[in-house]
Amino acid sequence: MNSQIKAAVTGVGAYVPDKVLTNADFEKMVDTSDEWITQRTGIKERHVVAESDSTASMSTEAGRRACRAAGIDPSELDLIICGTITPETLCPSSACYIQRDLGATDAAAFDLSAACSGFVYGVSIASRFIEAGQFSKCLIIGAETLTRFTDYDDRGSCILFGDGAGAIVLQPTTDPTKGVQYTVMHADGNGWDYIWLPAGGAKLPASQQTVTDHLHYLKMRGRDVYKFAIEKMQWLLADCMTACNLSADDIDLVVPHQVNIRIIKSAAEKLNFPLEKVYVNIDRYGNTSAASIPIALDEAVRAGRIGDGSMVLLIAFGAGLTWAGAVVRL
Ligand code: UT7
Repeated sequence: MNSQIKAAVTGVGAYVPDKVLTNADFEKMVDTSDEWITQRTGIKERHVVAESDSTASMSTEAGRRACRAAGIDPSELDLIICGTITPETLCPSSACYIQRDLGATDAAAFDLSAACSGFVYGVSIASRFIEAGQFSKCLIIGAETLTRFTDYDDRGSCILFGDGAGAIVLQPTTDPTKGVQYTVMHADGNGWDYIWLPAGGAKLPASQQTVTDHLHYLKMRGRDVYKFAIEKMQWLLADCMTACNLSADDIDLVVPHQVNIRIIKSAAEKLNFPLEKVYVNIDRYGNTSAASIPIALDEAVRAGRIGDGSMVLLIAFGAGLTWAGAVVRL
């Protein structure tokens, strides 16, 4: 391992479908209200994939945009990681379709299943490959087509989810002040049923009964996820700051998984961290799981909120249970 080499973010890109489902649309579908959804989650609208699109096609476009921003051709990539829990197919991986569609003929490609933490897990893993000198042009994607796994009869969960994809290119740098400075990853399988998709896997293969029983949709213990999320969001922020010896003044932006405005606010308030340094776009996208951080990162870069030299913290938690953080200097 060459500790002189770090993984620098050289390009960011995202793709979000045009179609929008507003809270008013949900008022016509389930027993809910714009007021309840806004107060409890902060969500106003979310994007929904077009019929002709899916996880791989959204990822391919996000990946193409990230490569363009990095000034490389996708054919130069040597690694593609796609963080997703809504893969194109169970077999092969979404990453292999993306590799084909990008023409990245020399790239190794695999999916990473860590739910909402998938993108941050991917950043951590790709950084280690770069530091070890194994790969030098890595595309890390977070992408979800959650609306195809959402039970629109379950008002407790259906109002949360949206679709989209985001991606970054990581490349080696010898500048020690740049790139991925620190990462942390954790899991606790005891919380397997906090958020899960019961059928369609080896444990419970698809059958007429599983379809009838709505077992191909995401199930969620909302309140339990809420409590876990508050604790972990707070822990991740504190851990990343301590590990890199950072105060709030040293940080330009925290990009948290966009899960619920109350969870995000609560973590910041408990640590006395200024909310204006925490990126929030859940109002326009809902919860897009692994895609939420790279979509937000792309927006923040394009809006000029962060750029060359910015210190950025990425923090996420999700099904598994999993949680992960990364400290990155752009
Ligand atoms: O990336 C991780 C994915 N998971 C999450 O993001 C979930 C994290 N959890 C949450 O964001 C929150 O727990 C929710 C937004 C899902 C729910 O908010 P809450 O404040 O925890 O509400 P609750 O589940 O305790 O339910 C409160 C009430 C219940 O009614 P009663 O029993 O008090 O009469 C629910 O039936 O709100 C009711 N309710 C709704 N009412 C209107 C649940 N969903 C809805 C709805 N519209 N959509």
